[in-house]
Amino acid sequence: MIAKKSFPEKGLSEDLIMERILEAYHLDMDFNCGKIFGSMCTSPLEIARKVHGMFLDSNLGNPGLYEGTISLEREVHGAVADLINAPDGYEAISVGGATEGNIMGLWKARNQSGKRKVLLPVSAHFSFKKACDLLNMEPVMIPLGEDYLPDLAVMEDRLDGDTAAVVGVAGTTELGIVEPIEAIAEIAGDVHLHVDAALGGFTVPFLDNSDISVFDFSIPGVDSLVLDPHKMGLSTVPLGLYYSRDEHPISVESPYLTGKHQKTITGTRTSASIPAFWSVMKYLGSQGYRKILEGCMEKTYWLMERGVSLGLDPVISPVLNIVTFHHDDPCGVVDRMAQNGWNISRTVTPPGLRFVVMPHVTKDAIDNMIPVLEESL
Ligand SMILES: Cc1ncc(COP(=O)(O)O)c(C=O)c1O
Repeated sequence: MIAKKSFPEKGLSEDLIMERILEAYHLDMDFNCGKIFGSMCTSPLEIARKVHGMFLDSNLGNPGLYEGTISLEREVHGAVADLINAPDGYEAISVGGATEGNIMGLWKARNQSGKRKVLLPVSAHFSFKKACDLLNMEPVMIPLGEDYLPDLAVMEDRLDGDTAAVVGVAGTTELGIVEPIEAIAEIAGDVHLHVDAALGGFTVPFLDNSDISVFDFSIPGVDSLVLDPHKMGLSTVPLGLYYSRDEHPISVESPYLTGKHQKTITGTRTSASIPAFWSVMKYLGSQGYRKILEGCMEKTYWLMERGVSLGLDPVISPVLNIVTFHHDDPCGVVDRMAQNGWNISRTVTPPGLRFVVMPHVTKDAIDNMIPVLEESL
């Protein structure tokens, strides 16, 4: 518990405030320090920082006051709809990230079906556990096979008349695997299929890899999907984009505000990340994203090779920009690295060490990290 402190009675000078603020600011890890290997967010592009700062007042919870932000949001929704092959009649909603988007998807599925079971691959992000708890839904876990893909025979077996939704992941958090959404859609049939493309949404479309299966609305069975501009979209936190094949049916009237109703879970919401992402999208274009991702993939394989040279065994050959190695005591390694100021991550299925090669991860940073990793194993 944090001890209570008296709420400030008198105001302080800006100098005194900034002294304390700077002290705290420098305690935060900086993506460019070369020691962050466990984050799926990264340093946003300069243009995103600049634009985000300009729109701090914007609040799309009360949209009538922010026509400019709305106009940029429309362009973002339309352009990303193109990227993920959204059909005519789609609905897009800006959310705080994939956690919120996953809740939105299951919320729609539950309300439309009146059912409660969610078929959830073991690879699914923990946000689905929050979603099921909030929505009083029942997660039915689908085990993974030896290839770490959901066991489709078990999925087919568990799907029954009480199933509200089936979940597939395009870019799993732990291994970066794109699950076979087309096959999952076939099993789901008429049952709502929600795709979590938090990572895959802004990577798979920019990778020239025909081995990666399709994950988006070009599969007729996909009903909803979320992707995260604040991850490989390279924009500012917080921004996720939730898409639904047809209109999102849940809304409440917002009589005191300029909008007639709200469909988002949050009311007042940070909206500066929308113009920020608009700028990144325009600044990079697909070509820019492709180039940055190519660099990430090169460094991903470099990190894998360096790990192998330490005797580590990769769990899979990386598909996206995540490298994982089998390890019996990943918590111990993560803790020892952290004690020395290095951030790496871990996997649970299977137990292992996890490195996310975001654009801020340089080859030099990898080379500097490897000896520390060797000592920490
Ligand atoms: C696949 C996947 N889904 C959902 C999330 C949750 O995203 P957020 O923290 O942006 O809500 C993550 C975060 O790492 C993720 O990897």
